[in-house]
Amino acid sequence: MGDMGFSWSHLFLALFLGLALDGAVKCNGRITSSFTRKVEKSVDMPLDSDAFRVPPGYNAPQQVHITQGDHVGKAVIVSWVTKDEPGSNQVLYWTENSKHKSKAEGKVVTYKFYNYTSGYIHHCTIRNLKFNTKYYYEVGIGHTTRTFWFMTPPEVGPDVPYTFGLIGDLGQTFDSNRTLTHYEMNPANGRTVLFVGDLSYADDYPFHDNVRWDTWGRFTERSAAYQPWIWTAGNHEIDFAPEIGETVPFKPYTHRYHVPFRASNSTAPFWYSIKRASAYIIVLSSYSAYVTSTYPSFPGKYTPQYQWLAEELAKVNRSETPWLIVLMHSPWYNSNNYHYMEGETMRVMFEPWFVHYKVDVVFAGHVHAYERSERVSNIGYNIVNGLCDPVNDQSAPVYITIGDGGNIEGLANNMTEPQPKYSAFREASFGHGIFGIKNRSHAYFGWHRNEDRYAVEADSQWFFNRYWNPIDDSTKAHK
Ligand SMILES: [Fe+2]
Repeated sequence: MGDMGFSWSHLFLALFLGLALDGAVKCNGRITSSFTRKVEKSVDMPLDSDAFRVPPGYNAPQQVHITQGDHVGKAVIVSWVTKDEPGSNQVLYWTENSKHKSKAEGKVVTYKFYNYTSGYIHHCTIRNLKFNTKYYYEVGIGHTTRTFWFMTPPEVGPDVPYTFGLIGDLGQTFDSNRTLTHYEMNPANGRTVLFVGDLSYADDYPFHDNVRWDTWGRFTERSAAYQPWIWTAGNHEIDFAPEIGETVPFKPYTHRYHVPFRASNSTAPFWYSIKRASAYIIVLSSYSAYVTSTYPSFPGKYTPQYQWLAEELAKVNRSETPWLIVLMHSPWYNSNNYHYMEGETMRVMFEPWFVHYKVDVVFAGHVHAYERSERVSNIGYNIVNGLCDPVNDQSAPVYITIGDGGNIEGLANNMTEPQPKYSAFREASFGHGIFGIKNRSHAYFGWHRNEDRYAVEADSQWFFNRYWNPIDDSTKAHK
């Protein structure tokens, strides 16, 4: 029988190895990546960097960026800055192969921040667009014009495939530039960026040097002028600086980045929702009040964000938009010592709803690393009962921290040890994510670190929709 390659010793060896490997997977599905990277400080690109190049021409529009302009994706907010004079607020736009150019009229705003005066910041919403259509648009009418293009999303529907990019805590370092390039070059082809907060890091400069808001706008234009970036406010958007007389929170951010919050009946630009293809995306603010009354006579009262979210979650129709995605800045489940438990009070308020409404995935930033959780919840705890361990919960979201855009503050590589059970994979490297929805039941998430080639995924997970396909989709269950 030797010529058939069989022997009892081989069988025992195979059995032993099989049991040993099986045991390794079952005993510890958690992964703290051992990937080693260069430990170099992240440095902001200099002001004369190519990435910040000012477009030539008198009053040329710069810092051009777009975002969704209504609730369903038939409108786009176009924003840009002119420096020499206000110029025109008009946007001309047309479809490919069309001879007719439509016009829309926007508004211009300016602001002062300590000793800085902004350029003329224009915002113009173009409406009644056709779904799934390529549009060109032109700004700077009357002086130097510049033309860009974007694709509108497909009409909202349950099986519409769509691919989102995930970027957080980007800043404007050489690493930030690498992250953006990797996103642009990724063959997975993200069509809309879900940005989880902390944009320019201008507030790391003396007096929150707002020139660094302008450079960030010019740096990101190469992507944000061509596909919508969906904005979430982070702590670096607060710009609260009473020592220099700046006491209005979010002043530069709200002047520069508009969002369609009124379309979802929100009363402030920090929390709102959009539908896009087969996704319902809820944006929350970690830095706006969210607590409520538990007093029986006033249930659900006190703060606008709480009241809005209570009504909002009840509106989501999973037969129309199966994928329920939440964006916030400060993560609830993170096992990094950096910002550990900063999201805890919001988790206490909102987590029971996320489980009840079966949120598929929560993306957050803030921590400058990547981490993916198991599906867990921790909603049984009431201070006196001692039930404070997160438990596996197939109705709970997966929590992904993607605050690894590459900003000046560097990587967060000081992690809680041992790795908590709720943490499936963690690594302190810069990178970005891609969430690709295939249909109502399946989506695929990949995390891409900047050290790898563009197509390489350093971590990934198939997501099974919590409403249509709520079986265990953890990577541990599918090894
Ligand atoms: Fe942050």
